[in-house]
Amino acid sequence: AGRKKRARALEANRQAARFYYDYLNSPGGQRVRDYIAQRQITHRFAVRFGLGAAPDSWDELTRALTAQGFSKMELIDAGLAVAGKNGGVYDKFRSRLMLPVIDVRGEVVGFTSRILPGEEGAKYLNTPETIVFHKGRLIYALNLAKNTKRPNLVLVEGNIDVITLHQAGFDNVVATMGTALTEEHARILARYTKELVLCYDNDAAGKQSTQRVLNILKNAQLNVRVLQLPNAYDSEGKPLKQDPDDFIKRFGPAAFEKCLNDSAGQNDYRLGDLMSRHDLSQEEGRLAYLKEAVGIVAALQSPIEREIYGNKAAAAAGISGQAFAQEVERFRKNRT
Ligand code: GTP
Ligand code: MN
Ligand code: MN
Ligand code: MN
Ligand code: MN
Repeated sequence: AGRKKRARALEANRQAARFYYDYLNSPGGQRVRDYIAQRQITHRFAVRFGLGAAPDSWDELTRALTAQGFSKMELIDAGLAVAGKNGGVYDKFRSRLMLPVIDVRGEVVGFTSRILPGEEGAKYLNTPETIVFHKGRLIYALNLAKNTKRPNLVLVEGNIDVITLHQAGFDNVVATMGTALTEEHARILARYTKELVLCYDNDAAGKQSTQRVLNILKNAQLNVRVLQLPNAYDSEGKPLKQDPDDFIKRFGPAAFEKCLNDSAGQNDYRLGDLMSRHDLSQEEGRLAYLKEAVGIVAALQSPIEREIYGNKAAAAAGISGQAFAQEVERFRKNRT
């Protein structure tokens, strides 16, 4: 029974993707077409990612799919419709840009969707957990990125970041579905690549997520690097929000390629981030920095790594590698 239900949910999502795709190319899809153009997504990449449009209607998809033989319950179970209070059934997605989420085997398992400019509501809206849509193990665009000839995979926050980066020639970019990366995601990624480059937004939330993800990836069989996008400022010197999509539009693919080549190993990233949070020209700042740096280096399993990064961390605070190493060993003894 479970297998039959799965097959029906997949078929409903496939038919829905087709419906949204056709609607995008109909007169009613004009607003979404304009928005896609505004995001500078080309026709070719809109097709590659199967982009579509949800009509500005309460039940157009529900009517189209029930006419094809799906029951209302099946549409609710597939995450395409929702039950209203008065017993009615409504389309889950209305008047939005639709991005099908395709699993690594090529099946449409659900959608993410973006609000159009000038509308009220959640900016992004996803399919809820269903029998075929599991956020904790879905990796957006892995079906495409698994065929890349590049030596690594790049993980970004946003689905639109994925599309514009693929369009700029980075066909190794993937994203999770808005949720934080899980150990399950890490295991799946490790099947497809040896190296993962984290490239989250250059804002406080993105930096926090990077730290969290680095901790989750500690036990993964992956070499991890971090691409930190440079800060950007407007003409008055105010910091600008910058994610990979913003960056590639401002500076172009060659600049992103350079950032990718320059991306730091995870230990250098951690120490660099720590340095940026302390004033190393003051003794107080140096001490606070050293205390945290000892913790980072002490957590490294390999004695060779402890020596390399210990020496770097010590040098940044102007102390000897030896004194730092003694602190690290003391820290390790006290912990076990
Ligand atoms: P754009 O304006 O489309 O460029 O989005 P953004 O760059 O502001 O997106 P942001 O970096 O805030 O979000 C990145 C990802 O987080 C999105 O692709 C979503 O997966 C998720 N996200 C952002 N906003 C929401 C929201 O309102 N609801 C949900 N469920 N997810 C969101
Ligand atoms: Mn946002
Ligand atoms: Mn952000
Ligand atoms: Mn963005
Ligand atoms: Mn963003």
